Amino acid sequence: MSLVRFDNFLLNYPSDTSFSLQIKNLILEKNKKIFIEGPSGCGKTTFLNVITGLTKPVTGNIYVLDTNITALNQVACDRFRVDHFGIIFQLFNLIPYLTVIENIILPCTFSTQRRKKALANNKTLEEEARRLCTELDITDSLLNKPISQLSIGQQQRVSIARAIIGQPDIIIADEPTSALDDDRKNQFMSLLLKECNTYNLDLIFVSHDTSLQSHFNQIYHLENLNNTHSNNDHVIT
Ligand SMILES: Nc1ncnc2c1ncn2[C@@H]1O[C@H](COP(=O)(O)OP(=O)(O)OP(=O)(O)O)[C@@H](O)[C@H]1O
Ligand SMILES: [Mg+2]
Repeated sequence: MSLVRFDNFLLNYPSDTSFSLQIKNLILEKNKKIFIEGPSGCGKTTFLNVITGLTKPVTGNIYVLDTNITALNQVACDRFRVDHFGIIFQLFNLIPYLTVIENIILPCTFSTQRRKKALANNKTLEEEARRLCTELDITDSLLNKPISQLSIGQQQRVSIARAIIGQPDIIIADEPTSALDDDRKNQFMSLLLKECNTYNLDLIFVSHDTSLQSHFNQIYHLENLNNTHSNNDHVIT
């Protein structure tokens, strides 16, 4: 079973004719740490959005864990996303007025599968969230604070906890380190990779920052994957 498979995929935005993403044939394999690199505007966020089914192609199909997500209706696609993906957004997208614990357990309120897995570890979702906070060095004094009162570094750790609770299959990370200095960047990467290893989660991470490449074992350049710019099916360095 592949992690993600693109089959004759084409996407463009009607309002932006200068950009298109065409991937004729690409397989991302399971059990790899995958890094997708490319400059601003080359389509990294678009690439992640099509993998999670947030953006639909004009033609072609995307298979995630052998499910053709392109063929799913909206409700089924939303359910598939929350069951199988933990997503770390560039600006974290945490809910500012909810507490740390409430933010972390959110995916389990939408996904029965993730709720069951979280409750296999602990009696309540709150206890499971607390356990993950301990693992991620989120101190007790923060747990009932609204997100709006946390530092960026603290929000990052909460966003990892929210992505991994109930162990989805794939963690998607969209430039989560772009606002960080080198120390915090390395700290974030160590925590994220540690959690992915502990729970055996696949990781797809996009960034323009090539200094992060050393943390990964499969590296792609998005501009080379995009057949709009290149005749290569895919290029691995
Ligand atoms: N919803 C949209 N509607 C129209 N055009 C869009 C939309 N989203 C992105 N684009 C365009 O598609 C191109 C790729 O954008 P995308 O956000 O995927 O790039 P990116 O590599 O993630 O950039 P960055 O590194 O700055 O986050 C850009 O030219 C952008 O303007
Ligand atoms: Mg982006």
